[in-house]
Amino acid sequence: MGQRTFTIIKPDSVGGNHIGEILTMIEKAGFRIIALKMTYLSRSDAEKFYYVHKGRPFFRNLYLFMTSGPIVAAVLEKEGAQDAVAEFRELIGKTNPELAAEGTIRKKFAASKTRNAIHASDSDENAAWEAAFFFPDKEIIDTKYALPLPED
Ligand code: PPS
Repeated sequence: MGQRTFTIIKPDSVGGNHIGEILTMIEKAGFRIIALKMTYLSRSDAEKFYYVHKGRPFFRNLYLFMTSGPIVAAVLEKEGAQDAVAEFRELIGKTNPELAAEGTIRKKFAASKTRNAIHASDSDENAAWEAAFFFPDKEIIDTKYALPLPED
């Protein structure tokens, strides 16, 4: 299992002005943001990104919602994690916010199964694919170190 995962702060959270609070919860849980971007998904982007769910009854709701406003995509790293994907899914909580545990991001910010605040990858393989969907390699950055200044 790996130490990286991928997330999207969904249009309801961005529109609700919760980007900062959600990123703070993520950082406080020990994840480091190693790539970050605010953007929009076109319908064709959303259909590609969620292709595994094509044919599911909720697919139309899902892509309509995900294209309804801006999103924030991020790649996360948790040093020393046994399974960053699973740990991050714990932090966000269940898809249905009524079932999400206290202290999770969805418990705090999600309104319904559609307007559920945040996405998280469900496997290492999907996390790598989803990260590459949004970020070229050079935009995934080791944020632990800054270059020394000449006078250091
Ligand atoms: S499954 O069966 O485990 O694959 O499904 P699940 O992970 O619960 O959901 C897959 C994604 O679809 C979203 N979803 C919905 N969107 C809109 N309306 C409804 N009713 C709905 N139910 C599920 C769910 O949030 C997942 O998207 P992401 O972006 O991964 O959160």
